Amino acid sequence: MVTAQTPTNIAVIKYWGKRDETLILPVNDSISLTLDPSHLCTTTTVAVSSAFHQDRMWLNAKEISLSGGRFQSCLREIRARACDVEDENKGIKITKEDWAKLHLHIASYNNFPTAAGLASSAAGFACLAYALGKLMNVKEDESQLSAIARQGSGSACRSLFGGFVKWIMGKEDNGSDSLAVQLADEKHWDDLVIVIAVKETSSTSGMCESVETSLLLQHRAKEIVPKRILQMEEAIKNRDFASFSQLTCADSNQFHAVCLDTSPPIFYMNDTSHRIISIAEKWNRSEEAPQVAYTFDAGPNAVLIARNRKAATSLIQRLLYYFPPNSDDLSSYIIGDKSIA
Ligand code: DP6
Repeated sequence: MVTAQTPTNIAVIKYWGKRDETLILPVNDSISLTLDPSHLCTTTTVAVSSAFHQDRMWLNAKEISLSGGRFQSCLREIRARACDVEDENKGIKITKEDWAKLHLHIASYNNFPTAAGLASSAAGFACLAYALGKLMNVKEDESQLSAIARQGSGSACRSLFGGFVKWIMGKEDNGSDSLAVQLADEKHWDDLVIVIAVKETSSTSGMCESVETSLLLQHRAKEIVPKRILQMEEAIKNRDFASFSQLTCADSNQFHAVCLDTSPPIFYMNDTSHRIISIAEKWNRSEEAPQVAYTFDAGPNAVLIARNRKAATSLIQRLLYYFPPNSDDLSSYIIGDKSIA
């Protein structure tokens, strides 16, 4: 039995659009921050026993089906790389060949609302791939494991690393070079504080429709993102918050513009999201240097990244003034106390 814990990640240059739906290959590179595991993470226990008669999985204590293609891809890819496991003290001996016949029980738990649009699938599939890899003594490194997690959910590949992570889109048709690498570890830019304003709603993914109908998506993938990736890598390297904030906000806004350019249009942000953007923009313009970056994924929750603790305190005061928790506008706040990890 193995238990692993994996945090979620928030993209600052977004992944939106696949060139291969089955292998989950993206149309552009993306960059994310991995959050502190104490706030938004998945804990997964995987167990194997000759007494198990089928693969089974429980998510937040409720049994879910493993028949979906994404789960099956991850299980198949890990099983194909399984190695012998031997522990004389515990009397355990499982050979490479045994793994194909043995069944698994998987129990996964999210410490945040699964349907809050906070990329629970990212933490979930990263944790699944990592835990299974450990159980089956898979020798692949984190980047190679990320290519397996990717087949569960694209954004999951970025959760195999802490700190700042880049998902390289890759060129190969079989997806072997579409994997995550760490740009900088969690200690690199310690000042940043992440505040997430949560409104609990479920989100649906419209990525496929965007690829089919949005001309802006084509333009973004070819002309905009490659340059932005280089600029973002530079901003992270130099801890340049002004550029980091400008790029993060612009990329989030363009992602939502792509959603609006999709037919039928997709609306992930709500009035509260728009008000939070206005407050952040106004505040940044009233200061000598930007104090906060905002980004929104496929849901209305604002992820706000403050340049340092002082800015975070001021940000939280503003948010509490305009949007008290448990109001119609907002359910709660999650504060990345130790910034990224
Ligand atoms: C808006 O990784 O959830 O959060 O690959 O279909 O599982 P699938 O999609 P998913 O998409 C996340 C999109 C995003 C932006 C991002 O995380 O880069």
